[in-house]
Amino acid sequence: MSFPNQRPRRLRTTAAMRRLTAETRLAPAELILPAFIREGLTQPNPITSMPGVVQHTTDTLKRAAAEAVELGVGGIMLFGIPAVRDAEGSASLDPDGVLNKAIRDVRSEVGDELVIMSDVCLDEFTDHGHCGVLDAAGYVDNDRTVEIYARMAVAQADAGAHMLGPSGMMDGQVAAIRRALDQAGHTSTSVVAYAAKYASAFYGPFREAVDSQLKGDRRTYQMDSGNRREAIREVELDLAEGADIVMVKPAMSYLDIVADVAAMSPVPVAAYQISGEYAMIEAAAANGWIDRRAAITESVLGIRRAGADMVLTYWASELAGWLKES
Ligand code: PBG
Repeated sequence: MSFPNQRPRRLRTTAAMRRLTAETRLAPAELILPAFIREGLTQPNPITSMPGVVQHTTDTLKRAAAEAVELGVGGIMLFGIPAVRDAEGSASLDPDGVLNKAIRDVRSEVGDELVIMSDVCLDEFTDHGHCGVLDAAGYVDNDRTVEIYARMAVAQADAGAHMLGPSGMMDGQVAAIRRALDQAGHTSTSVVAYAAKYASAFYGPFREAVDSQLKGDRRTYQMDSGNRREAIREVELDLAEGADIVMVKPAMSYLDIVADVAAMSPVPVAAYQISGEYAMIEAAAANGWIDRRAAITESVLGIRRAGADMVLTYWASELAGWLKES
């Protein structure tokens, strides 16, 4: 009778042994809760394709932020849905516009207890649903869009955002935002760059969440799904432009990209577990096809294991609650 020299199973014999030898752990502090606020709502509005996620009113958003603090969540990422949209997305610049007001409300509710992040992008504000303004041919005009982003960024920093998330994939957006922030005296406001953001079918439910008007797609500005090397180029550009954190998005179908970026980035790496990833797991769980809690935990753990330092996930508060429990 011969014995195996090595028995990896020894380190799996008890829960305590597995806990001791775990290579990756989850903690509430590395979770970021994306949240939607819609102008003019009196009741929170459920998002059908994202069961459990709502378009918030001011009150419920403040409560969600306070709860996130209670649970030790690291940050909140705010998206606003304005009552009125136009071709230039001008509601994004109004200091009393839905997103800027939400930033102020959340900041007054939680102060510095939570990192308050906000979306710097025009798609929620334009009547055509694109992330920027269009030229005469209907092409998203990079440089004119970036000028608007710079002004949005200052408005959001004025409102009290700690960190800005430019998600539009325009060239030079991080540099323009950094410069505008600094000129306005917001030298301490940081930027989490959506550095490698892919044109993804998994954004579907988000489009419902923000009542997107988009027809067509974002393939002239978001990255092609098959491109791996290009992610490094995008990250290098954003680092050179002054990004404080770089993000990969989506997460679950792009774990190789998360790993590549984690291997080369000198700044923290975020990954965004997006709406379609949320919807898939919720739908399978609702059908009784997977164990909901185990699948959610495993999915976020996988993103962390791939190398993300922090994860944006719609389950941030619920998952933080489970982590606190155990
Ligand atoms: C653009 C933006 C999008 C998401 C976050 N920021 C939509 C898009 O690029 O089409 C998607 C997030 C998600 O799907 O959960 N402002």
